[in-house]
Amino acid sequence: MAATVDRNTLAEARVLVVGDAMLDRYWFGAVERISPEAPVPVVRVNREEERLGGAANVALNVKTLSAQATLLTVVGNDEPARRLRQLLEQQGVSTLLGEDPQLYTIVKLRVIGRSQQLIRIDFENQPDHEVLAGMLGDYESAMASHQAVLFSDYGKGGLTHIPRMIELARGAGKPVLVDPKGHDYGRYAGATVITPNRAELAQVIGPWGSEAELHERAQALRERLGIEALLLTRSEEGMSLFDAQGHVQVPAQAREVFDVTGAGDTVIATLAAMLACGMTLREAMPIANRAGGIVVGKFGTAGVTYEELFA
Ligand SMILES: Nc1ncnc2c1ncn2[C@@H]1O[C@H](COP(=O)(O)OP(=O)(O)OP(=O)(O)O)[C@@H](O)[C@H]1O
Ligand SMILES: [Mg+2]
Repeated sequence: MAATVDRNTLAEARVLVVGDAMLDRYWFGAVERISPEAPVPVVRVNREEERLGGAANVALNVKTLSAQATLLTVVGNDEPARRLRQLLEQQGVSTLLGEDPQLYTIVKLRVIGRSQQLIRIDFENQPDHEVLAGMLGDYESAMASHQAVLFSDYGKGGLTHIPRMIELARGAGKPVLVDPKGHDYGRYAGATVITPNRAELAQVIGPWGSEAELHERAQALRERLGIEALLLTRSEEGMSLFDAQGHVQVPAQAREVFDVTGAGDTVIATLAAMLACGMTLREAMPIANRAGGIVVGKFGTAGVTYEELFA
């Protein structure tokens, strides 16, 4: 029988999310003329939308499932940081925001005119190592009161101290989940599970020509990193779990696909919430896959509710 969890148990489950948080902004407007200053359209903004992105969206996904989430991240001393905090608190996500005064809080601003994206403007720069090191104390005490730790790496520099953080969490016996980025997976050594998508994994083990080649290289990577499991998310092909017992695969569950952005965030958030309830990875995987299948049927980065997942 498929694993399940009751709502009250899930409501007690606490996931600490650590990583690169972002604010996704959308400015919609009318384009009526070309600028006299340069050959570019002038957009008169008449509507604004904001969404939590990156690690903040992962934390929101944990909360949407009705589990508890705390987000630990670095922000600047700026308006987007205050907005990020406000949006998280409105959603019931607890916040531990370290402040780096020289940092731009990460914002991805899209300007949309005539139903078309005209430009995307990114605010981001590298956070300061000392500020990040100063957050380790907060990390350690928060970690003690959560049942699972989830690292959401978007490659923005917020996870400089991840090897130490993984060591602390594993030392305390907590499951550690990582959504990885980049070439250097050595920094995730010792984690419980990493959840790359196909492109991310191919960057590290090279493109595979067959399932047999994938299995061999995925297992070699898993052993080299000393991690319990590698969960490969495969979009329309579902997902594959590689662990010490071997390999299990589940097919994609989506009935209709409208918007695939953020599916990876939903998958790892669901997996973390299930591990926080005491499930094994093999029990949690089909549930996370179901969550991915549900979220791609919705517009915008959204989460999946307990009712949708276990109906
Ligand atoms: N086109 C699709 N059809 C069916 N299911 C899908 C599709 N895309 C994603 N999914 C579901 O969502 C899961 C995660 O998707 P994917 O592998 O694309 O993650 P991702 O690339 O990290 O996503 P993102 O980075 O956009 O959040 C898949 O394992 C599957 O369950
Ligand atoms: Mg992803």
